[in-house]
Amino acid sequence: MGWDTYNAYGLAYNETTIRDNADRLVSLGFRDLGYDVVIFDDAMTERDRSANGSLVENQEKFPSGLHALSDELHALSLKYGVYSSAGRFTCGSYPGSLGYEQQDARWWADLGADYLKYDNCFNEGQAGTQKLSYDRYGAMANALNATGRNITYSLCNWGDDKVWEWGCTISNSARMSGDSNSFDQPSNGCPCDADEFYCQKFPGYQCSVLNILGKASYIAGRSGPGFWIDLDMLEVGNGGMTTAEYRTHFTMWSAIKSPLIMGNKLYDLSPEDYAILTNPAVIALNQDPGGSAIARRFVQQVDTKDRWGVGEIQVWQGSLWQGDQVVVFLNAANETQGLDVPLWRIFGTPGNELSLRSWDMYDLWAENVTMLADVARQVLNGTLELGPKTQGYYNASRISWREGLAANDTRLLGSFEGTVEAGGTVSAEVGAHDVKAWRFRLVGKNRLQKKDEL
Ligand code: GLA
Repeated sequence: MGWDTYNAYGLAYNETTIRDNADRLVSLGFRDLGYDVVIFDDAMTERDRSANGSLVENQEKFPSGLHALSDELHALSLKYGVYSSAGRFTCGSYPGSLGYEQQDARWWADLGADYLKYDNCFNEGQAGTQKLSYDRYGAMANALNATGRNITYSLCNWGDDKVWEWGCTISNSARMSGDSNSFDQPSNGCPCDADEFYCQKFPGYQCSVLNILGKASYIAGRSGPGFWIDLDMLEVGNGGMTTAEYRTHFTMWSAIKSPLIMGNKLYDLSPEDYAILTNPAVIALNQDPGGSAIARRFVQQVDTKDRWGVGEIQVWQGSLWQGDQVVVFLNAANETQGLDVPLWRIFGTPGNELSLRSWDMYDLWAENVTMLADVARQVLNGTLELGPKTQGYYNASRISWREGLAANDTRLLGSFEGTVEAGGTVSAEVGAHDVKAWRFRLVGKNRLQKKDEL
């Protein structure tokens, strides 16, 4: 989890941008939720290398020097993320690292870098087979390892050459799609034919949340501890989607266990967006110790298409730590839908063992689970300091997600909504472009764990 400059600033950021947002990561409690990497996404250096081939710091943008900034981040218990491309140039036409892997890895390690995002622009045609991509990205893996510094390695090859099939052997995460920027708008830059497996002709750009979810439904199961499939940075807070759409985007990215990298202006957040990004019950899905991604169970077309002709409902389900389950109803149509879904469809097959149990359902977006608008407003304007008792807030630096879940912390479970009996049906109204998301827990589990009943 972290924060990245690109979605909100493009290449136009400097040390003030970094400092302002880093301060907000701390004061708004994001760091203590786990958003702790600050990624300088492209445009960190001069346009040319030095005579000996070294990268050169951009002094105009970073007059204090990158080393000093890295130290400042570390002093705040944040991590320093850098960026380059496995190509001749980066996507912003700064020097890329192809052929300079060892020299650049050393340079970043000396600056105290903790994370590398490694892009795919200007790759000199060294793509098109898994061998070509693997060798190109593997060279940087070797170079990072040779530095002896612990640097998280994040591939950004947009899913080229089916990176989810080989990325886990050399990296910690891999982007599986082109850049995202809307909820549902189809784009020629990111084509998707219904009959095409994985929905991808070329990685593309301007991919919608729904397009990315469609692709992720085929490959999310490749994610696991040590290697996460990255659905792209979050757009929450950038203004291009409705609150319901941001809620859906954030829920799905969390439950699929994508890295949660914000890409917004942290000193310009609305209370609604702040409450989404800090929802402890949803982040608990992302940080679940079980480490399994949610799976799409079915998609059903409905009549109420939106202006792009998109109109469907989707049901997703996944396994959580210690037998809990996550269930999501997603309404991608433009009118509220009433859904009645039998448990066997939620769990995949008729007679499925899990559908023959009774489940308590905890709503992950109930009022009070997220920060109420009033509380969020006060924290944002500095009149309320976050503390252990702040409504809707969870500090995972104090009590880890694992400890919190083991202790049945109600902030992580969500709000009890009711019970669905064995073999029963879950019914819910879901607003347009919104989700209903629950943690399912076997009936009796909480009660059995109470000391006086043991
Ligand atoms: C590509 C990546 C983005 C970002 C930019 C930087 O488009 O996909 O995430 O890193 O390059 O220029």
